[in-house]
Amino acid sequence: MFEQFFGLKFNPFTKEIPDKDLFMSQDLKELISRLKYLQNTRGIGLLVGEAGTGKSTALRQYASSLNPSLYKVCYFALSTVTVKEFYHGLASMLGETPAYKKIALFQQIQRAILSYYFDQRITPVIMLDEIHMASNAVLEDLRLIFNFNMDSSNPFILILSGQPLIKTKLSLNINSPLRQRLAVKYTLQGLSKDELPEYIKTRLKIAGLTQDIFTPAALQAIYANTKGFPRLVNNLATTCLMFAASQNKMLIDEEIVYQAQNEITL
Ligand SMILES: Nc1ncnc2c1ncn2[C@@H]1O[C@H](COP(=O)(O)OP(=O)(O)OP(=O)(O)O)[C@@H](O)[C@H]1O
Ligand SMILES: [Mg+2]
Repeated sequence: MFEQFFGLKFNPFTKEIPDKDLFMSQDLKELISRLKYLQNTRGIGLLVGEAGTGKSTALRQYASSLNPSLYKVCYFALSTVTVKEFYHGLASMLGETPAYKKIALFQQIQRAILSYYFDQRITPVIMLDEIHMASNAVLEDLRLIFNFNMDSSNPFILILSGQPLIKTKLSLNINSPLRQRLAVKYTLQGLSKDELPEYIKTRLKIAGLTQDIFTPAALQAIYANTKGFPRLVNNLATTCLMFAASQNKMLIDEEIVYQAQNEITL
């Protein structure tokens, strides 16, 4: 195993990263400041990013940073639940027994949100991940559910998160009422060219290795192949470690990156 070869305690590029070990990229910092702003204004925010740029990870970290006595987090991913399950799930997470008819269900959700906010002084934070999978009908429903007192107050935070296709969907005229209600928008870009070496170094260090085992040319090649998207970086870096170990090399140069990238794209 390459972990043993390099003297690592575990794979540094695993996807199971505790929140405290997440890399504070410029991207993530900017996103967090937007989310803090949304925390004050409440209302609807949109998070966009290509696959693997770290959207779900950022949402998870944000959710765990919120004080549970002030915020009630409800997270749903449209890839794992149907729209109906989302409405039902939201109603039950907010303490209701989901009604059968859609309109009654919507009223229930609204009532529950109002009760959380005004009676219990708890702000519901609803995260809807993979929103690019939503149909126009769902986007329209969201606007109806999250319309309170003719839009004059925001007793909730709704974060929509998804791949860039959602921008195209929201740009349609039919979706302009929802688009116009977005208080905050942010697009995750991934790690910058300058951040990538620091990211790799930090991950290796957490796993117990302080040596620089990637040459500068290898790091450049990793950036060129991944655009700095964390998931792609993690996959490529892991494959590089495997290749290097199997060839008995302690130093990862650009040649190994090319071999690893070839294997990934096969
Ligand atoms: N700031 C970070 N520090 C360390 N690792 C990160 C960071 N952000 C994301 N990652 C890692 O990158 C991988 C992809 O992240 P994530 O699943 O959040 O992407 P995503 O944008 O939600 O992708 P998708 O659109 O496919 O759902 C995960 O394995 C995650 O651990
Ligand atoms: Mg995701």
